[in-house]
Order: sequence, then structure tokens, then C-alpha cells
Amino acid sequence: MLLEKIETLLQEVGSLTAKNADEVEQLRLKYLSKKGEINALMADFRNVAADQKKNIGIKINELKQAATDKINSLRECLTQVETQTDDLDLTRTAYPIPLGARHPLTIVKNEIIDIFQRMGFVLADGPEIDNDKHVFTMLNFAADHPARDMQDTFFIEQSNPDDVTKNILLRSHTSGDQSHFMETHKPPFRILCPGRVYRNEAISARAHCFFHQVEGLYVDKNVSFTDLKQVLLTFAREMFGPETKIRLRPSYFPFTEPSAEMDISCHICGGEGCGFCKHTGWVEILGCGMVDPNVLEACGIDSNEYTGYAFGMGVERITNLKYRVSDLRMFSENDTRFLNEFVSAH
Ligand code: DAH
Repeated sequence: MLLEKIETLLQEVGSLTAKNADEVEQLRLKYLSKKGEINALMADFRNVAADQKKNIGIKINELKQAATDKINSLRECLTQVETQTDDLDLTRTAYPIPLGARHPLTIVKNEIIDIFQRMGFVLADGPEIDNDKHVFTMLNFAADHPARDMQDTFFIEQSNPDDVTKNILLRSHTSGDQSHFMETHKPPFRILCPGRVYRNEAISARAHCFFHQVEGLYVDKNVSFTDLKQVLLTFAREMFGPETKIRLRPSYFPFTEPSAEMDISCHICGGEGCGFCKHTGWVEILGCGMVDPNVLEACGIDSNEYTGYAFGMGVERITNLKYRVSDLRMFSENDTRFLNEFVSAH
């Protein structure tokens, strides 16, 4: 009789569960307290025949131990669950957590965008992984033209050399965004295309395999070179100060005709000539020109009705001029000593 009772209790104890600390305590009271089920067995134990006492005593002790172990383990499981759901994380950095700063390229990019947005330009985006058609062909780069060499980039796939849409590459300039935009929109529009671009260059203090550009494009009826010049003068003065002068030198880009390179008066020596401007008084900051009619036509825009201007600048270049960063590599090294220099710049 008593042995059976012990067996049943053993099984019962083995399958106990509890959802919270209260329930564990209830179980402890039920089985292990003075008035609990196990102690109650003692009343019967007194009546057990002497030769059975040892055997049954051992069984009762086993039951007591099993109940104690089970209840302890239920309690432990509950505290583990509690600490897992608790959001106290002792490995976190103590307060105050230092605030980061904007990256210098972001600060300058935002400043460029802000100036042109005030002149009516809106942002347009394009893919960093693009095809030959949009990055070169639609922009009037003939397949065998040496201008392609100026922008040697990384080719990802060339499954069909004769099909420019099958030649997948990392864009070498954000001018590709212009072809994407022009082929899907009707003029007039004034767009600004900021973004990262890639070139196959050996990495040094003065060149990197990726950098950032902001390009602008305005297409409308009767857009003229004078408009371009005035917009760029306004930009230069906003960016580098009201005393800034600009000059345009003839240049070549496949997608503009005529094309020009723009210099600003050296804001370090005020145009007098110094080491920074190589004693010329001028520093180059961007390329620009009137959109070549071939580009407009390739994008489905009637070049008899519309004209446009475009320009493109390197964000690193402008940042170097503003903050005199001497080594391009510092922009992507993530050295917090360098980045902390710009905490107050924005
Ligand atoms: N895409 C040129 C480059 O990467 C820069 C440029 C020059 C962009 C003239 C233009 C432009 O839109 O009109 O060197």
C-alpha cells in the first residue's frame, strides 16, 4: 500500500510544471512542507513492519530528494527566463554613450545639395551597378573612343560584347543617372545626382577606386551657356565665399558640346598664388558644358526643341578644398581621430 503511494508520488513529482514563482511555492508547500504529502507518509511509516522499515525508509528519502530537486530546477528555469527577457545588459557601454559625427563627405555633399536645391534642382537617383548603355553609350561615348579610357572602371559581366545592355559595370560617373532620368521624363527638368562612383585606379593619397560625385542637369527650351555660368558662379560663391571668382577653360567631354572645366580663385591665397594652387591663383573644381544634342536624342528628347546644360563635381575634391584634407584615403579609413575633427562642422 505505502510502496504504491510512494511510487505514485514519485511519478507525480517527475512531471511537475510551474508557470511562475508562486506556482513553484505552491508545489513546495504541497510536497515538502511539514503538512505536505511526503511528511504525511510518516504516519503510515510508523505502522510498517520492522523488516520493511529500512527498504521503505530509503524509498521515502528518494522521493523527498526527487521532489526537492524537481522544485529547485523549476525555480532555476524560471529565473533564467526572467533574466533573458530582462533588458538589463551588463555588457553595454556605460553612459554617456559618445555621439558620432557626420562624415565630412556627407557634410559637404549636403551643402552642395542645399545650394542647388535653393536654385530649383531636385534629387534624382540611379544604380551604382549599371550597364554600358546608360553609363557610356547613351552619353555619346563611341564604342572605340579613347574617352572611355579616362574612366576605366570595373566590369562585372560582359556576356555579349555587342549588346551594351548586357555589359554590366560599376558606374564611373553619376552621369548615368542623367540618362536614366532623361529616358523616362519629359523636359523641363532640373536634377541633381549625388552618389558613389568607381574607377580602376591604384589607391594613393590622390586617387581611389571609389569616390563621390554630384552632377547637375537642366533641360528646357532656350537653356544657354550664360545660364550655366551664372548658376555655377552662384554655387561657387555660396560654397567658398562671396569674393570667389570663377573661370571656364575649354575642355572635352563626350556628352557636352561645348565643354569646359571650371576653376575657382584660390580661396587660400585669395588668388595671389600659393603652394596650394601651384602659384596659379586658381584651382579646378568641376567639369561642365551644354548637353550634346546626340545625348538628348538618344534619350528621346527633341534636340531642336530643347537644350540643356550639365555639370559634375567630385565631393572629395570640394571637401579637400574646404577642409584641406591632404590624403584621400582618410575618407574611408574610419579613423575616429580624423572623423572627430568634423564634429562641429555641420
Ligand atoms: N562625368 C564627368 C566625370 O566624371 C564630370 C562631368 C563633366 C559631368 C561635365 C557632367 C558634365 O555632367 O557636363 O569626369
